[in-house]
Amino acid sequence: MGVNRRDVLKLGALGAVGAAGLTVPFGSSVATKSASRLGSKNMPKPFEAKFRYQSVLEPYRTEVDAAGKSCDYYSVLQRAGTAAILPGLTSPVFGYYGYNRSTRQWVGGLPGPLIKTEQGRDVVLRVRNQLPQVNPLSGNPFKTSTHLHGSASKPQYDGYASDVTPSGSYKDYHYPNMQAARTLWYHDHGVHFTAQNAYSGLAAQYHMHDPAERALLPQGDYDVALTMSDAMFAADGSLAYDDNSHSGLWGDIILVNGVPWPTMKVSKRVYRFRLLNASISRSYRPTLSNGAPLVMVATDGGLMPKAQAVTSYRHGGAERYEFLIDFTNYKAGTQIQLKNLSNKNNVDYDFTDRIMQFEVTDDSFTKQNNVVPTTLVDVPVMNLVEKPSYKVRNLAVERQGGEWKINGKSWVDVVESDYKLVLADPELNDVEIWEIENKSGGWFHPVHIHLIDFQVIDRNGKPPFAYERGPKDVVYVGENEKVRVMMRFEHQRGYYMVHCHNLPHEDHDMMQQFSVGMKGVAHDENDPIEADKCKADRLPRDEDPDYVKT
Ligand code: C2O
Ligand code: CU
Repeated sequence: MGVNRRDVLKLGALGAVGAAGLTVPFGSSVATKSASRLGSKNMPKPFEAKFRYQSVLEPYRTEVDAAGKSCDYYSVLQRAGTAAILPGLTSPVFGYYGYNRSTRQWVGGLPGPLIKTEQGRDVVLRVRNQLPQVNPLSGNPFKTSTHLHGSASKPQYDGYASDVTPSGSYKDYHYPNMQAARTLWYHDHGVHFTAQNAYSGLAAQYHMHDPAERALLPQGDYDVALTMSDAMFAADGSLAYDDNSHSGLWGDIILVNGVPWPTMKVSKRVYRFRLLNASISRSYRPTLSNGAPLVMVATDGGLMPKAQAVTSYRHGGAERYEFLIDFTNYKAGTQIQLKNLSNKNNVDYDFTDRIMQFEVTDDSFTKQNNVVPTTLVDVPVMNLVEKPSYKVRNLAVERQGGEWKINGKSWVDVVESDYKLVLADPELNDVEIWEIENKSGGWFHPVHIHLIDFQVIDRNGKPPFAYERGPKDVVYVGENEKVRVMMRFEHQRGYYMVHCHNLPHEDHDMMQQFSVGMKGVAHDENDPIEADKCKADRLPRDEDPDYVKT
């Protein structure tokens, strides 16, 4: 099913994709017609398709312990499926699928099912790998590792790249949900093939709520998850893949929740959008077509101290921005587009300058939190102030000999050190300052540090952009930029990854690790690979009534 390896090679070698790839990624962006090889009747047109809300996954079981603490158990299958993305064609995808008992329906695919939880509840997410042996896009085994991006999970539940679950096995991931409310996402992190796996569909949102955010921001139907990604398709509707010698994949079709350039009907009130950039390489510069503001209220790590109105902003891979749009004063029928002004070193096509459209209606609505707040909450990491006693570390993100590296080393060096090599080794609760530098003008790197939230101190000596004045876990390190971030290494001890979130860069091999509180520790009880291994899957089918006992 889908694109076989030979087709992908053919596309890469002969198609417009390959030609663009040879000349473009090292210069400024150019416009080319398309990367997809679709016939004109299968080529989607911007704003024709209807917006689709993400489906929410139900837990299959909930337990309350003696102390009154709740734990929700969720299960997702990783398996092959199909998605209706293009007119007249179905596309094979490899995604997360979950079964909802109340409706007897499977939900998920592209994107995967949304998990919604509350601060203070434990979650156990079971991931059952039922994928075929080989991912046709990579030609390599579908060995997966699931990372809940934004969560201070223990190392053995953090999706460590080399802690993989092969087809026919499963792993239970434990999530503590003890941080502030935020938009998280779970996605594949399998070593060297994260890009193809996430691109094929292994990505989904996860929302953690708390009382502060419930009191301030729109909820329910007015709290809208948006997962944005780009893709290129072969003539038969299957996903094509070309990462231009590991520089990046640039699709010509922009999807929001798996729908190309959808139109969403909105009521005349304030909406909250949680926009995740799940593109494996592309960065965006969202803006509204009528010049109205996007009011930023939360970044990767949750609420900002103060709302920040912007007319456009730079949105790199894996970053989450929550913004409010107030549709109160528009006439019914008004159409407003969310456009993409793009950034340097992306490859743009005819329609990659737009993302989605809103159409205002006279539909009735509830008034809950129908305001645009200004002051939000106190955020501890944003109150940190630089001190000379804080350790400063330098991270150079660079290309060397056709590979991507951090300070001249990559995940290969970590593996060869038997997973001992670290680029930082703070004690638990130490505060450090990391200076991340990109000396090249030819590419940008969204750099992600696992476990912690950081404050962006400055960029090339200048204050951070208004929209990044909130807790972050990914920072856009643009062309010739040096960005300083400050964080407290709290919550857990152990080994955690740091890497570029342009996934072809991550896979080849701009990833390393750091340790927290491990100096002088002889036995690591939270060893990311050994502490809680995956198991052979002999569980009943998820639809089976007995499944809830497992
Ligand atoms: Cu979103 Cu290490 O990843
Ligand atoms: Cu990179």
